[in-house]
Amino acid sequence: MAGNTKNDVMEKIVSLAKRKGFVFQSSEIYGGLNGCYDYGPLGVELLRNIKEAWWKEMTLREDVEGLDASILMHPKTWEASGHVENFTDPMVDCKKCKSRYRVDILAEQISKKNLGKIVKAIAPALFESAKENTDTLSVISIDDLKDKTIEDFTNEIGKKSEDEKYSLSVLNYALVTPGIATLTLSEIVCPNCGTRGEFTEARQFNLMFKTFIGPLEESSNAIFIRPETAQGIYLNFLNVREAARQKLPFGIAQIGKAFRNEINTKNFLFRTREFEQMEMQFFVKPGEDEKWFNYWKEIRYNWFIKYGMKKDKMKFLLPDKLAHYAKAAADIEYEFPFGWGEIEGIHNRTDFDLKRHTEFSGKKMEYYDEQTKERFIPYVIETSAGASRSFLAFLVDAYEEEELKKENSDGTTSTETRAVLHFHPALAPVKAAIFPLVNRDGMPELAHKITDDLRKVFNVFYDESGAVGRRYRRQDEIGTPYCITVDTESLENNTVTIRDRDTMKQERIAIDQVRNYLIDKVMI
Ligand code: GAP
Repeated sequence: MAGNTKNDVMEKIVSLAKRKGFVFQSSEIYGGLNGCYDYGPLGVELLRNIKEAWWKEMTLREDVEGLDASILMHPKTWEASGHVENFTDPMVDCKKCKSRYRVDILAEQISKKNLGKIVKAIAPALFESAKENTDTLSVISIDDLKDKTIEDFTNEIGKKSEDEKYSLSVLNYALVTPGIATLTLSEIVCPNCGTRGEFTEARQFNLMFKTFIGPLEESSNAIFIRPETAQGIYLNFLNVREAARQKLPFGIAQIGKAFRNEINTKNFLFRTREFEQMEMQFFVKPGEDEKWFNYWKEIRYNWFIKYGMKKDKMKFLLPDKLAHYAKAAADIEYEFPFGWGEIEGIHNRTDFDLKRHTEFSGKKMEYYDEQTKERFIPYVIETSAGASRSFLAFLVDAYEEEELKKENSDGTTSTETRAVLHFHPALAPVKAAIFPLVNRDGMPELAHKITDDLRKVFNVFYDESGAVGRRYRRQDEIGTPYCITVDTESLENNTVTIRDRDTMKQERIAIDQVRNYLIDKVMI
């Protein structure tokens, strides 16, 4: 895709997604609803295929059971899980233009040069504050303070502030630490209106959507719309274990919608307010948690590779900051045109959730090991992927603009650009397109017959309009892996040509072999 900037690529993908019916903005005729998207005819097929590939991988094994828990749960669930208290983002508002920012996003928008300047300017105040807050220190360590004068400390911070990552973490700490937050905010310019230092203090903003159950809108009827599917699994741990007669270690898998009142929705499907998760909670004996954490890390990484994701676009990130429930975490990241971003998190959640639900419900979420006669609360290894975010990653990964050499009728050559989605055939929304070479001599009739036969098993498409070359291009653009053409020879010997999207090579096969040919290639 030479000549395209990363922004161009993203713009092209968003435009193709709309034009071809993968993704539409929600409520478009009313001007759109920010952070919400609708999946069109091709998008819904791709999304279903991704979910099906995940479901088969995760549940077609002896030690994982499936579940579909309700979205609305008892409000105590979210007190126990820590979401009422901890599922918050610190936010500031610009008093002048009223723009609202998540503190870390505001910090990210500051240029490297200004970032260093701000950190230097707040260094003396940082020293005083850090001395008083040694129990909550994160970026400033005890060693940074030990036997240091304010001048030593300021000089050191000055040197370290050259490092952008370090400065960002210092700024994120300073922006939410009482005593220095005001000074820090006074140094920052609003990215929207350009006014310096006109921000409110940071306030914690809970990301859960609230609604009411029953006819009365009063606080005793308030409930939350789930921000993760995981809690539905924990609440059903005892039910599933007993019903499925499972022994440790075993897992429970679920696919479902989750909702977060994200302040900064961004990058198309990457961060939305309504999205789908594919989560699995694996219950293990304490002490075996690290082994299973490593096991699931590999399984999950390899799943993306198995479905065609490019290895050089993927990496593991071990996050600096852990969620309130996690002892260890590894994020699988994908390199989107707008930068690296998490597509799946693998977490060691210890016994945090089951312990808390025991505490809040009074029901013991324990496991009795008949062999060792021990009773204990299992540890949990979680694999948490976004179905919608994986959709975006698979879409971006599949997109390519190829330069092709073309032979012209006058003997000269020229180049043309082919936009193609190289989806793994199992994920592709349309598995095959069927064309009659020309619209006469019985070719459309035979092509229709093949289409009807294949449609019993696969999502296929019949197309008789325009030159065959154009029909190929249309299918390449939506990622159809195979195009089947009925030609004169088909009428003579019951064969068709099958053209491969990626190699663009054709082979001739018997019509009665087409179904098995596709089954081999496209079944999940
Ligand atoms: N149960 C753990 C959990 O929910 P998370 O890291 O907050 O962990 C897991 O979310 C995955 O859900 C992420 O890796 C991402 O793929 C997806 N996800 C989270 N927030 C999202 C959002 N606002 N929009 C789209 N996908 C999101």
